[in-house]
Amino acid sequence: MQYEVVGIVGCGLMGSGIAQVCAQAGCQTFVADVDERSIETGLDRIEKSLAKGVEKGKLKAEDVERIQTRLIATTKLDEFSKCDLVIEAVVENISVKRKIFEDLESIVRPDAVLASNTSSLCITELGTTSRRPDRFVGLHFFSPVPLMKLVEVVRGLSTSDETFAAVFNFVSQLGKEPVTAPDRPGFIANRLLIPYLLDAVRAYESGLGTVEDIDKTMTLGCGHPMGPFTLLDFIGIDTTYYISGIMYEEFRDPVYAAPPLLKRMVLAGRLGRKSGEGFYRY
Ligand code: CAA
Repeated sequence: MQYEVVGIVGCGLMGSGIAQVCAQAGCQTFVADVDERSIETGLDRIEKSLAKGVEKGKLKAEDVERIQTRLIATTKLDEFSKCDLVIEAVVENISVKRKIFEDLESIVRPDAVLASNTSSLCITELGTTSRRPDRFVGLHFFSPVPLMKLVEVVRGLSTSDETFAAVFNFVSQLGKEPVTAPDRPGFIANRLLIPYLLDAVRAYESGLGTVEDIDKTMTLGCGHPMGPFTLLDFIGIDTTYYISGIMYEEFRDPVYAAPPLLKRMVLAGRLGRKSGEGFYRY
């Protein structure tokens, strides 16, 4: 492997999925979160996903134990001193991410590479915060991470060619398909996906159809695996709201402006699957 010891900061939906694929690919994988409860929830998610992998015939039962022994969960970032690569996968908030990269700077080896799984923030800015901008990249995975093949590899203005090539190669070793994405808000995928999802909410608000009928149209009529409202609930209403805010801030284009309903759903705690209710009830 390009990087044998990997650290993941954040054991939420994305972080736990990234930790799982790294451990599955053979890396010793440290995964950190702020408290035991978050770690337990993340590890439980990984266990269920591995069990489903066995059930679907994608994994052998004997591999599961081996994968789990490669996973080391911790609440202390200090353990990341052994890592060749650290991937940050916490909430989409620049202040939170900045603090993590500042803390990591005094922990990780000088030659280690740092990456952010941000879906919309500026990689060049995060790289500068880390004080190793040449060894800093964006590494944007898709949800559910164990199933989605694509990873956007984002080059900041100061990312070195060597770092970029090494990380690109590592993504292939994880069994994923890397694409080169520009350091622009939303990279490639969210640049196209976010306006589509926001437009679906606006269309619903203006009475185009019911949530169910709009979803049915896009799945059965257009062959999408999920309709826009199922996908919004899946990604998280709050996550979509944060991403759209970041993109609107930078582009100042109304296609990225969150419709009023989205903000109200966040305020009401209707965040999608993770809160038990979004556009649908779970
Ligand atoms: N481990 C390994 N393999 C598994 C598995 C597991 N835990 N669970 C399922 N699989 C395999 C199945 O065996 C099946 O494989 P084959 O195609 O070889 O048969 C495949 O995965 C699909 O599984 P299912 O048939 O059980 O599930 P599905 O057909 O309902 O598909 C889905 C599930 C892949 C999530 C599909 O609904 C989908 O693609 N949805 C869209 C997801 C999407 O758009 N994600 C991106 C969100 S945007 C984002 O993440 C970025 C951002 O910044 C917002």
